[in-house]
Amino acid sequence: MDKLRICGGVQLKGSVPVSGAKNAALKMMAAALLTRDELVLDNVPRLADIATMGRLLAGMGVTVERDGDASHTVALRADGLHSNEAPYDLVKTMRASIVVLGPLLARVGAARVSLPGGCAIGARPVDQHLKGLQALGAQIRIEHGYIVADLGSSKRLRGARIVTDLVTVTGTENLMMAAVLAEGETVIENAAREPEVADLAQCLSKMGARIRGAGTDRISIEGVERLHAARYRVMPDRIESGSFLVAGAITQGDVRLEGAAPGTLDAVLEKLREAGADVQTGEDWIRLRMKRRPSALDLRTAPYPGFPTDMQAQFMALGCVADGTGTIVETIFENRFMHVLELQRLGADIRIDGNTAVVRGAPRLSAARVMATDLRASASLVIAGLVAEGETWVDRIYHLDRGYERMEQRLAQLGAQIERVTA
Ligand code: UD1
Repeated sequence: MDKLRICGGVQLKGSVPVSGAKNAALKMMAAALLTRDELVLDNVPRLADIATMGRLLAGMGVTVERDGDASHTVALRADGLHSNEAPYDLVKTMRASIVVLGPLLARVGAARVSLPGGCAIGARPVDQHLKGLQALGAQIRIEHGYIVADLGSSKRLRGARIVTDLVTVTGTENLMMAAVLAEGETVIENAAREPEVADLAQCLSKMGARIRGAGTDRISIEGVERLHAARYRVMPDRIESGSFLVAGAITQGDVRLEGAAPGTLDAVLEKLREAGADVQTGEDWIRLRMKRRPSALDLRTAPYPGFPTDMQAQFMALGCVADGTGTIVETIFENRFMHVLELQRLGADIRIDGNTAVVRGAPRLSAARVMATDLRASASLVIAGLVAEGETWVDRIYHLDRGYERMEQRLAQLGAQIERVTA
């Protein structure tokens, strides 16, 4: 199993290109199920999760081709579907697999998708996905751990008004993808406003879908009979961007991101400024300069445009070396403080009370062996390792590889002393 070795204490300096957004690309790959024509996606990051989605779709008969090993272009063609099953082995490694459910129902009228089960950051049920699909006319039962869905005696899903009980990103996306081929109009109220939802809607629109309001909490979709071939460029990854910026801030460095989407990072940039960073942005770049120890921050995760839960762990690392005491309230996932015990191994002073973490900043952290527990937790440990005195080893970095493309090489490009050690 690969590990990372990090020698802390180097200020990061230089520029780094931002990858395409994992959480947009995964859903667009699933959208390929909606048509027999080819969908070509550019700016697809090279990540373990993307490979998992590729395997899942290939298992159903979708042709998935990457233009050579180093390429970020993926071509998908679902003209020979022979299975509508998402098996447990793949779904348990990647919950986002659930997004094949809506497209399969819309295109072939039936699907068998494993229930994801628990995961490191909480229970994460899919009841809202199922409730919405039922409103569109799907008949759903749970059998042997699988969601078994079909259309009964109907030929097509029917448009409907759906009000979700809570804001769910993949839920909104699943319903939007199901509705594009339904008969009549669908309205999703209380929809997730995340930029990845809007990006998926734009990709679907290029394929011929008729969608209005994506990016707001009310999305309306006029169903069409078929979608067609398209080519689409995936948006920049805002969470990867945010992670590199925090790495820049914690090392009191000077980091410029190229190919970023600053407009999707308002809450994050605001907090970095509050911490004392000088942040400048252009149309597709962000520059962060940090000249002093960060100030402590209070933050609370919330659905977009609020502060993203996927940046909570990285900001906790920043808080560990801040001047003062800050609080972090996690409102999206009930068990997303797994990184706290590992950060404490690096000398962090953090107390947890329910969904609140009180982080007392210390002037320094001290290197140790730590273990990645989930994707964003891994990033927080790497970030903390960049300033910990001595040699930090981060184990189980397969979590990191799910969501960050060659993170260690890109941090090394900024001057970090970091290397991957393959056991
Ligand atoms: C997506 C992102 C993930 C991010 C999260 C919140 C992908 C692949 N993943 O996850 O990185 O952290 O959004 O921004 O895009 N819930 C229910 N019932 C449902 C659906 C959700 O109770 O049917 C709850 C969840 O348990 C959670 C909350 O709603 O507490 C938000 O979850 P959701 O937005 O669905 O997260 P994901 O789409 O799984």
